[in-house]
Amino acid sequence: MPTADPSRAPGSFAGLAGVDRVAGRLYTDPEIYAEEMKRIFYRTWVWVAHESEIPEPGSFKTTQVGDQPVIVTRDRHGTFNTLLNRCRHRGATVCDQRSGKANGFTCPYHNWSYTLDGRLRGIPYPDGYEGVLDKNDFPLRRLRTESYAGMIFATFDAESEPLVDHLGDAKLWMDRFLKQTNGYPAKVLGSHKIRFKGNWKIQLENTTDGYHFPMVHKSWMASVDAETANMMSFMDDPDAQTHALGHGHSVAVMAGEHVDLDIDDGSEAIQPRFQHLVGDLTAAGESPERIRRYMRSMHGCGFNLNIFPNIAMSSSFLRVLIPISVDETEVWHMAIGMDGGPENVNRERLRIHEHFQGPFGFGSPDDAEGWDRVQIGAVADPTMPIMVNRGVNRETTTDEGWPTSHVTDETGMRESYRMWKAMMSDD
Ligand code: FES
Ligand code: FE
Repeated sequence: MPTADPSRAPGSFAGLAGVDRVAGRLYTDPEIYAEEMKRIFYRTWVWVAHESEIPEPGSFKTTQVGDQPVIVTRDRHGTFNTLLNRCRHRGATVCDQRSGKANGFTCPYHNWSYTLDGRLRGIPYPDGYEGVLDKNDFPLRRLRTESYAGMIFATFDAESEPLVDHLGDAKLWMDRFLKQTNGYPAKVLGSHKIRFKGNWKIQLENTTDGYHFPMVHKSWMASVDAETANMMSFMDDPDAQTHALGHGHSVAVMAGEHVDLDIDDGSEAIQPRFQHLVGDLTAAGESPERIRRYMRSMHGCGFNLNIFPNIAMSSSFLRVLIPISVDETEVWHMAIGMDGGPENVNRERLRIHEHFQGPFGFGSPDDAEGWDRVQIGAVADPTMPIMVNRGVNRETTTDEGWPTSHVTDETGMRESYRMWKAMMSDD
């Protein structure tokens, strides 16, 4: 099903994305990037926090919605707020900490102070403002904020559809992802960030790109035990599939036996690498059934869920992408564990996470090398398209209505660009 070369399409930017290929300019053109901020990041639901990052009244974190700095808070009533980190006096940021606990925020410039839900509480030396300023008129700007399954999203668009509608069929997979915490609340165990010199969509494409795995992650495959390598050898597994879920979301299933951790037919052996933990948990009085459940959930949920435009729930961690400029992107990796479960299980999960995603890991640094190279190479001959056509002729549709193909196919990327095109269109 070839389409016309989209790099030759005249008119709006939306014409630059075809069904099975997109123009290289999508990675390199600052005008397109500016338009993406307006039409995508200022309009749709953007992930801002996991609720365990702001666990108590007064907890806050800072991040961005697109290129705009925000503070995400839990106020005295326990409500989540997303506030623009921009003083209403002359525009300074009112908070410069990554996270913490506070009663409110005081701008360092002239000390206008704000409550956790953004109301302007105090102005020093207020006499000069008599008759010219009503504090009620100058709160921090609030974004609409909603959450599902502990995942907090914000949008600038007061009219946008409810978050649950935007998530659509991704909700089923979010629920499945959370089964790896074995009945305990999910908790961010730790996080680290990297920046790569490339456009945000290069990272967006990667989460459901099973095709690169055996090539780019050869070193990681060589560094793990045989059982783990076997679990991730999905090239010839017909059950390893990518589904397009609508709204730009997609899911790549790599280890089907872990998709629903409530289902256990007993055929899967516990990996020998976890035997030391089995011994420790037995000694601590855990039942064989619980121990088996912990061990089966150790690598996570067996799939990567990509939620358009900026968050992935990927095996056992979250991957957040924050666009910095047309050719630079920040990526946060957040390890997920149990809030209240056995600490030695959480520790082992962290070690597995570091082994792949860590700064000295065997996985993510190799991904980042590929992303950098895409950005450098895409500058060459902008008339040549970026191809996302792998598997386009072998896609089928599931009973749920999801376009589906093998996990090595580019079904997830086509779904992202379908949404990109819709949001970048004039109508
Ligand atoms: Fe914030 Fe003046 S800029 S108080
Ligand atoms: Fe990768």
